[in-house]
Amino acid sequence: MAKLWGGRFNKATDKKVDDFNSSIAFDARLYKQDITGSIAHATMLGSVGIITPEESQLIVQTLKEILADIEAGKVAFSIDAEDIHMNIETILIDRIGDVGKKLHTGRSRNDQVALDIRMYIKDEITEISKLLRHTMQTILTKAEQNTDTIMPGYTHLQKAQPITFAHYLLAYFQMFRRDYGRLQDTYKRCDVMPLGSGALAGTTFPLDRELVKNLLGFSSITENSLDGVSDRDFALELLSALSILSVHLSRMSEEMILFNTHEFSYIEMDDAFSTGSSIMPQKKNPDIAELVRGKSGRVFGDLMALLTVMKGLPLAYNKDMQEDKEAIFDAIDTIKMCLPIFTDMLSTLTIRKENMRKGAAGGFTNATDYADYLVKKGVPFREAHGISGRTVFYCISQNKALEDLSLEEFKTFSPLIEEDVYSAIALETCVNERKIYGGPAKEAVLTAIQNAKEFLDTI
Ligand code: ARG
Repeated sequence: MAKLWGGRFNKATDKKVDDFNSSIAFDARLYKQDITGSIAHATMLGSVGIITPEESQLIVQTLKEILADIEAGKVAFSIDAEDIHMNIETILIDRIGDVGKKLHTGRSRNDQVALDIRMYIKDEITEISKLLRHTMQTILTKAEQNTDTIMPGYTHLQKAQPITFAHYLLAYFQMFRRDYGRLQDTYKRCDVMPLGSGALAGTTFPLDRELVKNLLGFSSITENSLDGVSDRDFALELLSALSILSVHLSRMSEEMILFNTHEFSYIEMDDAFSTGSSIMPQKKNPDIAELVRGKSGRVFGDLMALLTVMKGLPLAYNKDMQEDKEAIFDAIDTIKMCLPIFTDMLSTLTIRKENMRKGAAGGFTNATDYADYLVKKGVPFREAHGISGRTVFYCISQNKALEDLSLEEFKTFSPLIEEDVYSAIALETCVNERKIYGGPAKEAVLTAIQNAKEFLDTI
């Protein structure tokens, strides 16, 4: 097949070069954005009189037919036409001849691909945002059901202080809320229309960039033609946002795996979201959570790949930038696969409330509250900390919890200790006295739930 750019060449391209150079195998998925962008460009060319209204109409009409044919599976793309942009242009020219050859007036594939990828990412951010909203909603529903479910909070994976499962879940709500915000910020940077940048130095044709911007639903146009074709910051931002989101999915998956073990038994994953072993009949494995955790590596890799591609590129366009697509697509596909299955896995979890409570009752999670009790009796905190530590040491030797000690035993550590110590160190007290804004007390968690609901109502 003759190349659209074949004029200054004497020889056909080596077959290996076609294979190596072409991107149609992975950029075919941009067909819709490419055609939509071309329809806007052709409409504008007609409107400013660069082509006639009839020519513009014929191009627009034929592009719509090509779109319908692609969606009906009637179009085969060719590696000879290199990428999605030239495949569609070639098909257009095949269908309407010379008029089709006018479409690319005042345009370059460099600004065309920048346009397509921005449009693609905008659409995908909208999709991912919906999935993420559903994840947040699911977390919130589970939190509402668990405001009284006491569990140990951890530091260093050692039992630390009692919290509730609702409070734990709402920590992830906050992470996903920030992820959501990062995606909306990224959207703003994608929402800038680059056509008119040409290959790098704009164009001599009087293109109406504002019209194209409006036709395509962009908020503004790029300010510098060199930057318009060489900027991939918006893609890096997307990959960063998706990487951070992956960190959150991975951390929560890790905890689901841990809490689902026989040793913890805080939760049980539904049979429909667990898998068996080919040899060990007793096994019920948390493969979904493990895969979500593992797939974070792909997304980080995608970010690293694009950062590395971009870091040494002289202005403006370089073919290296064709490598942006697989990274972008892979990260988007991965997140779109992970979010729904992760969310369904969460929504079908069984919460073993009694085991969580047992976990909170062991391990001296009320030792801080015991020290705080002494502080309220007038003991300076550092001293109270020491008394509490010595009491814990004693308890360990007696194989007892703090609340198992008799008042006489308590008094050997401080004469200030009275009967009221027992209610002060009860788990419910430890949790529900932490009423501070952002804390785990039921009162504070109900406020957090209300705030979370209000946020979800705004998105
Ligand atoms: N397939 C190319 C890409 O994805 C399109 C732009 C090609 N431009 C060029 N001057 N070769 O980046």
